[in-house]
Amino acid sequence: MSNIDTMLQEERRFPPPTEFSSRSHIGSIEEYERLYRQSLDDPETFWSQMAEELDWIEPWEKVLEWDPPFSRWFVGAKLNASVNCLDRHLGSRSDKVAIRWEGEPPNEQRELTYAELHAAVCRFAAGLRELGLETGDRVAIYMPMVPELVIACLACARLGLVHSVIFAGFSAEAIKDRVNDSEVRAVITSDGGWRRGKVLDLKGNVDRAVADCPSVEHVIVLRRTGTEVDWNEGRDHWWNDVIRDAPAECEPVALDAEHPLFILYTSGTTGKPKGILHTTGGYLLGAALTTKYVFDLRDEDIYWCTADVGWVTGHSYIVYGPLAMGATTVIYEGAPDYPEPDRFWDIVERHKVTIFYTAPTAIRAFMKWGDEWPEQHDLSSLRLLGTVGEPINPEAWMWYHRTIGKEQCPIVDTWWQTETGSILITPLPGATVTKPGSATKPFFGIETDVVDEAGESVGPGAGGLLVIKRPWPSMLRTIYGDDDRYRDQYWAKYGDRNWYFTGDGARIDEDGYLWIVGRVDDVLNVAGHRLGTAEVESALVAHDSVVEAAVVGRPDEIKGQAVVAFCTLESDSKPTDALKGELKAFVGEQIGPIARPAEIRFAEAVPKTRSGKIMRRLLKDIASGAEEVGDTTTLEDYSVLAALRESEEG
Ligand code: PRX
Repeated sequence: MSNIDTMLQEERRFPPPTEFSSRSHIGSIEEYERLYRQSLDDPETFWSQMAEELDWIEPWEKVLEWDPPFSRWFVGAKLNASVNCLDRHLGSRSDKVAIRWEGEPPNEQRELTYAELHAAVCRFAAGLRELGLETGDRVAIYMPMVPELVIACLACARLGLVHSVIFAGFSAEAIKDRVNDSEVRAVITSDGGWRRGKVLDLKGNVDRAVADCPSVEHVIVLRRTGTEVDWNEGRDHWWNDVIRDAPAECEPVALDAEHPLFILYTSGTTGKPKGILHTTGGYLLGAALTTKYVFDLRDEDIYWCTADVGWVTGHSYIVYGPLAMGATTVIYEGAPDYPEPDRFWDIVERHKVTIFYTAPTAIRAFMKWGDEWPEQHDLSSLRLLGTVGEPINPEAWMWYHRTIGKEQCPIVDTWWQTETGSILITPLPGATVTKPGSATKPFFGIETDVVDEAGESVGPGAGGLLVIKRPWPSMLRTIYGDDDRYRDQYWAKYGDRNWYFTGDGARIDEDGYLWIVGRVDDVLNVAGHRLGTAEVESALVAHDSVVEAAVVGRPDEIKGQAVVAFCTLESDSKPTDALKGELKAFVGEQIGPIARPAEIRFAEAVPKTRSGKIMRRLLKDIASGAEEVGDTTTLEDYSVLAALRESEEG
């Protein structure tokens, strides 16, 4: 908590520039407060009015049915997400650019207008239908950041196929688990993908995974890198063949507001990732409204969110939010430092990006690479900056404000989660006075509190647990196939008060501003990505040499946290550096490069309580090199402590 203590003493205040406020959707804090009050006092009217932002095929009978912890929003209504993202813009925005895409290889660019994107989605959706896929079927998407990834999502949405996007950095093992968990019928992938000039073997990973996935009938393969691939006749289809034989028209399916739109897997406190399920109406409304108000979107904006569609940020703020609002969204395929560390600023300059949304880990990397990279570029098109994924340290916030925003652009520090579907805590850029490091105030309809274990509000200055006290439209509906785990994980902690437990610690200051501390459970945040310690541990023990593993995070200057693994070996395995390297690579293969430990320490034993629980807190202290380790009174065997300290990687 000490970091947050320092942050709470942060005295700097940044009011929105007058010029910005005067043109904003919400131009003053009074207006925010009035709407926020209304959203809590009369949610029925508030959400009915807000829902007019979307096009509905049939209206709802009731705004909310709340049978805790299960909610249904816009009961009885029908709509289609792809119609909201495409068809409804065809009149006024047919020729407006929907997607400005930039490949990783320099000079590779594509633009798709709303009319073109609509046509491409219809054709691909028709092709999926020809393959026999039906409303409700699950489809996995494992692709690089190319326009076809967006086309695939929207084509699924058009037919009511439930997409499950799997980040292209995940391994074959990770694909297999996710595909099997939701019994996917078709996988959409590409031959390869570019990353820092190298080709990722995406089709190969799918082949290895799908060999153990009995539910998969079709694999659709886009040509991207021209890499040679193995071919499974009957199962595999080239993307171009799927669209060649398909009709150009594809009627959208009128879907229930509660029809599942997508599943997205995220890490929890056990080894098994959770399939977070989002539905159509509430999710789309949350994504659209926050895009409009948090990013203060105007029709002429060039909007760029640098996330990957493999994570929820890409779902809500590359695909569904901006397209539902008819925005021009920039998509970049590759790494921020390829070919040089100015690639992002080069893109901002050339595309005249006005709104830029990225992660603190990226900002810290830019700081390290040096100001000379952004200084080579004209960034004057920017008018608003955003961050997401982890707490932003005030130093990084100030750098972003000065070096990128030239002290002219408000910064929205947006707090949310895969589960929340859209941004829940955030400044509104034309209204909120910001403080570096604080996500500030809840968005409309979101009732937040910081409470102790007993559920009492802790009040200004004290630390506690962040809870949301009522349902909201874009909340997850369940964990796919596991209602019990859904209830246990998110709603059980405060019993019949039915509060959503976020898993995050937070503080509120005297002005009612929220300061997020980070996870309070066994979940790490590595470079803005969530990673369960149990997931990495189970990957490690799957290796023949490892008997027991305990994984913790240690603070990392760029990534926020880095993975440190303590491993106890089989008696005939030698604790060598070669084995450390092998184990790191092994975790990379089991989960993906993001999970690769920064450090492996071999230990005779890990510290346990007398009841046999691993004392992770002690390991954390040791991993971060703390002089003093915390309370050791419950430690079973004191000798392990000394041994662990000596185990440091050289
Ligand atoms: O700990 C919080 C942190 O990221 C977690 C959610 O991770 P994920 O579901 O992967 O979604 C990330 C992108 C929405 C949260 O529980 N987090 C996210 N945004 C912030 C944050 N922590 C502090 N400040 C933020 N702005």
